[in-house]
Amino acid sequence: MKILVTGGTGYIGSHTVVELQQAGYEVVIIDNLSNSNREVLKGIEAITGKAPVFVEGDCTDINTLRKLFEENPGIQGIINFAASKAVGESVQKPLLYYRNNLNTLINLLECMPEYGVKGIVFSSSCTVYGEPDVNPIDETAPIKPATSPYGNTKQISEEIITDYVHSGAPIKSIILRYFNPIGAHPSAKIGELPLGVPQNLVPYLTQTAAGIRKELTVFGDDYNTPDGSCIRDYIDVVDLAKAHVVAMRRMLDGEDTDSIEIFNLGTGRGVSVLELIHDFELSTGMAVPHKIGPRREGDIEQIWAIPDKANNVLGWTAETPVGETLANAWRWQCSLK
Ligand code: UD1
Repeated sequence: MKILVTGGTGYIGSHTVVELQQAGYEVVIIDNLSNSNREVLKGIEAITGKAPVFVEGDCTDINTLRKLFEENPGIQGIINFAASKAVGESVQKPLLYYRNNLNTLINLLECMPEYGVKGIVFSSSCTVYGEPDVNPIDETAPIKPATSPYGNTKQISEEIITDYVHSGAPIKSIILRYFNPIGAHPSAKIGELPLGVPQNLVPYLTQTAAGIRKELTVFGDDYNTPDGSCIRDYIDVVDLAKAHVVAMRRMLDGEDTDSIEIFNLGTGRGVSVLELIHDFELSTGMAVPHKIGPRREGDIEQIWAIPDKANNVLGWTAETPVGETLANAWRWQCSLK
């Protein structure tokens, strides 16, 4: 079975391509390499023994997509990772975010019936829940007004998919709301490759341990949490990738599943920033110089998932202990010369 993975050389995309190929799927990647590079394809091949078909192109151009579908007939499902994802940048460049994230999705949806593609798995985010009233949260928790253009693209994308499916379009969709994906493939052949100064916690942490950054700033220790730092649900990127394979199988093979389904992908455990630093030091033996700084604007205090629906309906569970995930992130950092 042939699957199109948009953004397939990116962080979560590349790990998902590996899991798809290992599960026997044929993969076609399209990526514009705006936030990744070709080397990733070698990593994927080294792990799986198979090079995916790669198209360098931009999904915001529908003609590029049509050409791809014509040259690669028989694609049955799409996993859409192609999107811009930096919260801060989205505030500076909102149109870039709306153009990239929304045009890509609309173009893919438009192509699906034209080329007989049956289903699309969409990368959404727990950011749609905003600051939850209570934790942990399941999929019925209210959607809060978005606090960034990035977050808004995820909300609007979910609505676009829902409206299109409800219009009677002959497609199915599974929307996956990721909590905080971290880590790298245990082979250390693929991982996260942030350009410039990392904005996310774990790449900043591993670069600090490696001596590339002087120290990590913990953004606030005066939150209403047990140790005062923010709490997140950190999910191993390989576990996350595996959820896409299960979702794809359910969407394409499930006879009587709903046309649109939403799942939280998290571990069900909330971990604070200070705990994560401690876990990293414990599992790698590396010290992470850090200081407490002011809160980061727009940060959510605490959010973690009830993953029961994914556990019970998809039959998927995040299994990797956080220490192992952090050790993998460190091994990946060390492999980068
Ligand atoms: C954010 C987005 C999320 C998006 C993800 C990927 C929100 C609310 N969340 O997640 O939707 O999918 O980025 O880009 O928009 N921290 C530090 N020091 C650092 C970096 C981070 O203390 O140098 C802290 C943050 O304050 C936060 C935690 O680490 O409490 C995680 O931050 P980060 O990795 O940036 O992810 P989120 O902000 O949770």
